Amino acid sequence: MCGIFGYTGPREASSILLDGLTRLSYRGYDSAGLAVVDDFGHLSVRRAAGKLDNLRRLVENEPVIGRQGIGHTRWATHGPASNVNAHPHTDGTGDVVVVHNGIVENYAELKARLTANGHQFLSQTDTEIIPHLVEELLADGLALEEAVRLAAGRLRGAHAIACMHARTPETLVVARIGNAGGIAVGAGDGEMLIASDLPALTPYASTAILLEPGETAVVRRDGFELRMLDGRPSTRTLHPVGVSSGAAAKGGYKHFTLKEIHEQPESAMSALHGRIAFSHGRAQLDEMPLPLTDAEARALTRVVFLGMGTSVHAGMVGARYVETLARVPASAENAAEFLHREPVLDKHTLVVGVTQSGETADTLQALHEARIRGARTAVITNVPESEATRAVEHPLLMHAGYEIGVASTKTMVNSMVVMYLAACALGQRREALGAEGVVRCVEEITRLPALLGAAIEMTERDAEDVARRHLNARRFLFLGRGLMEPIAREGAYKMKETSYIHAEGMSAAEMKHGPIALIDADTPVVAVAPRNTLYEKMLISMSEVRARDGKVIAIATAGSVEITAYADDVLWVPECPPLLQPMVAVAPLQLLAYRTADLLGNDVDQPRNLAKSVTVE
Ligand code: F6R
Repeated sequence: MCGIFGYTGPREASSILLDGLTRLSYRGYDSAGLAVVDDFGHLSVRRAAGKLDNLRRLVENEPVIGRQGIGHTRWATHGPASNVNAHPHTDGTGDVVVVHNGIVENYAELKARLTANGHQFLSQTDTEIIPHLVEELLADGLALEEAVRLAAGRLRGAHAIACMHARTPETLVVARIGNAGGIAVGAGDGEMLIASDLPALTPYASTAILLEPGETAVVRRDGFELRMLDGRPSTRTLHPVGVSSGAAAKGGYKHFTLKEIHEQPESAMSALHGRIAFSHGRAQLDEMPLPLTDAEARALTRVVFLGMGTSVHAGMVGARYVETLARVPASAENAAEFLHREPVLDKHTLVVGVTQSGETADTLQALHEARIRGARTAVITNVPESEATRAVEHPLLMHAGYEIGVASTKTMVNSMVVMYLAACALGQRREALGAEGVVRCVEEITRLPALLGAAIEMTERDAEDVARRHLNARRFLFLGRGLMEPIAREGAYKMKETSYIHAEGMSAAEMKHGPIALIDADTPVVAVAPRNTLYEKMLISMSEVRARDGKVIAIATAGSVEITAYADDVLWVPECPPLLQPMVAVAPLQLLAYRTADLLGNDVDQPRNLAKSVTVE
């Protein structure tokens, strides 16, 4: 979702801003812009709809000079992606310039008042009211930082704002309002930067802080000053910036998404690290803290996983793990829909948010509501500093490393790994899983990195050919049963979001109740059918498809030769314990979607209209 990057220092700002925006582009955007102020108080703004290359070309043709600037990647909410709606936006005098991440919930009311006061607006955005609010406050005689603070205090919703004034040299004012829209301030060598996330700062800043909700910062070349929105001073120390810039390189892969799919064995290993231990030649659960005492774990009556998109698919697998291993009723729900009803919760319910970004507005709201209603709360996230970690009693980190591709891949696998370990830990504490059971589960999960590696290698032999044979598909159906049902849903998600071919994922049992009407020769059906207790039933579903001229692509366990009689194409995965099958079988689906999207020439890392962190409801 929207990205903010800013610079003040001794160097020309425009190329640093363009580089910073490129580092933020993984978040998803559909237009971009920047504003630069020169040493004589002259402000230049450049904005371009579409990819960052359009902005880059514009700046090449119409260069901007200055050593202080702010830039933005916009993901459209109010008004389409166009040059005029792209940020930065200016006030009526042309001196105040603002970039913004979030939605101004009361913008219509503020705009009406400003319009009545004579302000004119050029764009359809909610953002444009912010520089006009600042303009009014400056006209009342306030200093820039005070004006931004007061203007920010009048906005409803959750936001990050960065503002400059043409005649206030070497000063950026930033504010974070509410708990979405993170913004970081970084310190480099004689220069200061701001960015929507810490990794974007790594090439320039050695230390940084993330603003707390309700905090503002006045950033100058030689340092910064923090205050709360009400003007009280706030002091915090800068921390070293942790992620190496190497993590943001493609490392020989055509796309970050492909790199991240291939990194899954290693990232799964990181999720296991420190949580299991080997002693006396056997693996054991070492550390998987949950916000519960043993007595509370035993008294638990329900576990609910909440998330959106891929994260709710991971949650569906997690719920099955919890029921199997810990014997507690468990479910997974779309976090937004959970909020739209009156959920019944109590202190014996554990609500676990699942969010790789830790910033998804729907999930954060739902966790907040769950806490208010008295449930116990935890979150599984990939970002240690994210808002989600503060919204709950206990964060469980995925340790998947930096995921740049907008489509979630390795973070989904790592979510499932963490859920598996948490379910084992809960089973152990509830005595649903005896000592032997714990050892067996832990020994099985230690095989995951190798099994995932094998699945990726086996799939890569055929995925491109299979994708090519179905490139003209009108739509795809994905079928699975049991633990494979959420994986079928995820396969469909990956296919539609990267290839733009319509896809639906469902229980194979569901197909004959309606979706079977869609089956024809142009509707390939992907049957996720590794060898397990539901394998025979999957073969029957595959026969039903073929009996109607449908084409079947099977995901099958190596050695299940009989499946070739039921399928037109097979992507093989290694034999593996049933509980590990979701984590292993998702890899061929990711690769099938990736190869299809790439053959169609799509921008796989930044699919159209998608955002990496969805910070609006
Ligand atoms: C799909 C995808 C999205 C996210 C969803 C939730 O590939 O990435 O569906 O899963 O927006 O995001 P997080 O996990 O950050 O809460």
